Amino acid sequence: MTGQFGNKDKAWSARFSEPVSDLVKRYTASVDFDRRLADVDIRGSLAHAAMLAATGILSETDLASIQRGFTTIREEIAAGRFEWSLDLEDVHLNIEKRLTELVGDAGKRLHTARSRNDQVATDIRLWLRDATDEIIALLADLQRALLNLAERHAGTIMPGFTHLQVAQPVTFGHHLLAYVEMLSRDAERFADARRRINRLPLGAAALAGTSFPIDRERVARELGFDGVCQNSLDAVSDRDFAIEFTAAASVLMMHLSRFSEELVNWMSPRVGFIDLSDRYCTGSSIMPQKKNPDVPELIRGKTGRVYGHLMALLTLMKGQPLAYNKDNQEDKEPLFDTVDTLVATLRIFADMTTGIQVRADRMRQAAAEGFSTATDLADYLVRKGLPFRDAHELVALAVREASDAGVDLAGLGLARLQALSPLVGDDVLNTLTLEGSVGARNHIGGTAPEQVRAAIGRHRARLS
Ligand code: ARG
Repeated sequence: MTGQFGNKDKAWSARFSEPVSDLVKRYTASVDFDRRLADVDIRGSLAHAAMLAATGILSETDLASIQRGFTTIREEIAAGRFEWSLDLEDVHLNIEKRLTELVGDAGKRLHTARSRNDQVATDIRLWLRDATDEIIALLADLQRALLNLAERHAGTIMPGFTHLQVAQPVTFGHHLLAYVEMLSRDAERFADARRRINRLPLGAAALAGTSFPIDRERVARELGFDGVCQNSLDAVSDRDFAIEFTAAASVLMMHLSRFSEELVNWMSPRVGFIDLSDRYCTGSSIMPQKKNPDVPELIRGKTGRVYGHLMALLTLMKGQPLAYNKDNQEDKEPLFDTVDTLVATLRIFADMTTGIQVRADRMRQAAAEGFSTATDLADYLVRKGLPFRDAHELVALAVREASDAGVDLAGLGLARLQALSPLVGDDVLNTLTLEGSVGARNHIGGTAPEQVRAAIGRHRARLS
């Protein structure tokens, strides 16, 4: 057998006396999944080749041949005509082999001053940088969708909960803005991780650097990296940037999972705060009355798989001595699946948000239950001069009385409230209304409709 690289079609075959067994070939090959890196692999190779020519390591004629070859390869891949071969192990060797078929010796020279170790690290960083940008953009879309909904419901009153018990009234807009805050921090985390993702490993070669007079800064500029990795051993071996990305992804999914849990809960007929558009729900094959919130449930479920990928990558790294080890080939599938899950989840969440129908009457009814304005009565008494702890005690008595009588605090009536404390004036009933309660919390971070509208304005300015 003769091939481009020698007698066994493999880059290192001259040293070996028998072919790799089929079992080993299948076990070690990554081309089935890393062909997804083809585009970034070619971008990296083109920048490397241009640098080799600029530094005189490669001739201009060879560079032109390499560029021509890659144009053809890109067309073949786009058209689905490219023949991926398991014999050639991974995306890098498949593409290099085809390049050599197309342009001859120039293709064989491309790998000068480079190793697959710095090549794959470069590919994965380029790919992840682009994916990070897409995720940050999708996060902005989702935040905008939430802001639109929050704006429509800046004054819609719902119960705020602690311990899943009605605590104090809040506005639905305020509740939604809590998630906008979480998502804005998620976007910051991705942007921060991007700074460390966006460093160029190329030039590290296998592990120690190269004896050729390369220009790493030039390659970095051409590929849009912010700088070069400063240590060759570190450059080819660490995948902490992928771990960081997956950690940010896990926190994001955790937030989306919490939100999903609320949507499921709000949709339950017992709660009935919202309805989700039919396109986000499924029926039951046996119970004709059912409309199940499958999408938020699945988002909650997919959170677990992203956490799993984070654990996989952490574990992948923990036992590896310097420098490159084949273990690192296992970095790709968790990363790819994390990105796929995030992209799909963010898209569907933004669209789902536009299909949320709010049942303001049900929210209001629930907020009116559970003595949600009890704190307002205590605050009222404090303003009249009572120390807060005493006010708290007094309102607890009022709640007990109202509860026994089966009425809310306002339902006790002015006379009974005044009997509890002479400080109670006839202005007290205003403070016990739901509108009075939310409107009074009128400071940055508070639930008052005015504050909700101001916060929406700030978020919109940040996202524009
Ligand atoms: N497919 C390999 C990976 O994903 C490329 C690097 C292989 N290098 C090596 N020395 N075996 O990591």
